[in-house]
Amino acid sequence: MTRHVAVIGHPVAHSRSPLIHGHWIAEHGIDGSYDRRDVPPADIAGFLADFAASGLVGANVTVPHKEAAFAAAQQRDPVAQALGAVNTLWLADGRLHGANTDVHGFLANLDTAAPEWDRALDEAVVLGAGGAARAIVYGLLSRGIGRVTVANRTLSRAEALRAQFGDRVLPVDWRDLAGTLPSARLLVNTTSLGMKGQPPLDIDLSLLSPDAVVTDAVYVPLETPLLRAAKARGLAAVDGLGMLLHQAVPGFERWFGVTPQVTPALRALAVEDLRAKGQLA
Ligand code: ATR
Repeated sequence: MTRHVAVIGHPVAHSRSPLIHGHWIAEHGIDGSYDRRDVPPADIAGFLADFAASGLVGANVTVPHKEAAFAAAQQRDPVAQALGAVNTLWLADGRLHGANTDVHGFLANLDTAAPEWDRALDEAVVLGAGGAARAIVYGLLSRGIGRVTVANRTLSRAEALRAQFGDRVLPVDWRDLAGTLPSARLLVNTTSLGMKGQPPLDIDLSLLSPDAVVTDAVYVPLETPLLRAAKARGLAAVDGLGMLLHQAVPGFERWFGVTPQVTPALRALAVEDLRAKGQLA
């Protein structure tokens, strides 16, 4: 029987998940489908409460429904439990299961693109304190990084991450960011700054150590001004597209029983899609 999966969001037309999973479905000759379901906020609780009626065996969940999916999941993995957000759902034993694979996506992307990035990494700086930052801070702490500085325009949101994750998280005001850079070996942008149509992220990267790694959760444009500046300084620069590709792996494995690979061919397909939509630069 054909297994149907979809990404659920609002809006959802821009989602690249169908491109990724469609590629793997074809590659592995799977009897399955993956499409988009736009579910408005007013309908999401009802949709998830009777998920089986949707005809789907599982789903990805994107903005703004990750918290609703967390609330609806009858069983959650430890990462979702810690983050209060679910981005991957599947039915098993008549129950709705939820996981959060954003942390896996973030870590697997760095493991692949900058091997040994976490070797002797004492201090990381995370810019932003929203949902993406929460997943990334959790991932860094789970890898044993000693100190994670969180710089945010609204300091109280950075302080909330310390309250949640403990005193290895150091909240700093956005205006005090420069002082935290010299001792950092990893800089992660999770803010919307640098995204197409948003103001640039203006940071003096000369303050970073020459062996620092810079990564951006933003992937539209693929090469953000932050990553371009990092490359110009000879720093390792890791784009956010890899995070998107890697976060898709655990869901596909659940729904279709095959562990897919993030291959150069898949990445090329995603890059081509960015190019076609004028989102490369
Ligand atoms: P997400 O869940 O994708 O992380 P979010 O919760 O909207 O999205 O978070 C966006 C992040 O970008 C926040 O850290 C936000 O800072 P505030 O918490 O102060 O809002 C940050 N951000 C957005 N625009 C910004 C700007 N112009 N200057 C500095 N930070 C900005």
